Amino acid sequence: MHRVLITGAGGGIGRSLRETLHGVYPVLRVSDRVDIGPARAGEEVDRTELADRAAVERMVEGCDGIIHLGGISGENTWEKILEGNIVGLYNVFEAARLAGVKRIVMATSNHAVGFYRRDQTINHNVMVRPDSRYGVSKAFSEALGSLYSDKHGIGFFGVRIGNFGTRPIDKRRLSIWISPRDLTQLVRIGLEHPDIRYEIVYGVSNNRRSWYDNSNAVRLGYRPQDDSEPYAAEVLAKEPAGADPIAERRQGGTFCAEEYSAETERD
Ligand SMILES: NC(=O)c1ccc[n+]([C@@H]2O[C@H](COP(=O)([O-])OP(=O)(O)OC[C@H]3O[C@@H](n4cnc5c(N)ncnc54)[C@H](O)[C@@H]3O)[C@@H](O)[C@H]2O)c1
Repeated sequence: MHRVLITGAGGGIGRSLRETLHGVYPVLRVSDRVDIGPARAGEEVDRTELADRAAVERMVEGCDGIIHLGGISGENTWEKILEGNIVGLYNVFEAARLAGVKRIVMATSNHAVGFYRRDQTINHNVMVRPDSRYGVSKAFSEALGSLYSDKHGIGFFGVRIGNFGTRPIDKRRLSIWISPRDLTQLVRIGLEHPDIRYEIVYGVSNNRRSWYDNSNAVRLGYRPQDDSEPYAAEVLAKEPAGADPIAERRQGGTFCAEEYSAETERD
């Protein structure tokens, strides 16, 4: 990997990876549609709207690997999801194909599988169960990654990120939290492991309360350093009582409960 592109570099995860990957690859191209400040040594700064195909082709030109973080990062209107996470995503994959990009590390999400129950342990082989339009767009990214892997040979590493932060902030996050250094480790596996053609892993730390069997990540060398458990007592003491029963039962939490209108619950 000579030149690695980070899209969405102005966001929470992008700003963190811009630091932790600084100097790891000869050139880090950081891109967003908002101003992300000047380039430092070893960086190229780019400003691109993902819905603009021609601009995306310029953004991707010359890159060996892409860490795709750009887009809408939570539930939103269909129009916004369509623009950023469907059209924008497709533009990035098409540009990657044209530019001969070797690897795409995709920030997919726990919300692609959010309707699984919390008493279930799921692995990378389960069918998708999106809990929102946002979750559907992440499932779409995994399907598009599969197509571009099978048909065009692009290595795809889909990281179903739980919740990124310096610490877990509520009960649900105790099960799905990932620390900055653990995510950095996973992203590096996605870019550097010699044998990745199409892989799905969970972007979570080594949480004792995890809902995931993340053995696929472990198989590829992932050795998470952090665990949410030391934060558990403090987090649980602050947890408000009386959560929505759908949110409480399902891994996706409030994403499942919002706009919910089914009369009977699917198992
Ligand atoms: N933060 C988490 O815990 C978490 C969990 C699961 C998945 N993810 C995924 O990881 C990625 C990064 O998350 P984040 O928390 O840093 O999100 P964020 O919202 O902080 O950052 C997203 C960035 O993408 C940019 N962006 C949005 N739409 C764009 C467009 N059309 N063109 C160009 N740039 C655009 C925004 O300007 C922003 O800087 C997202 O794809 C998100 O869905 C994050």
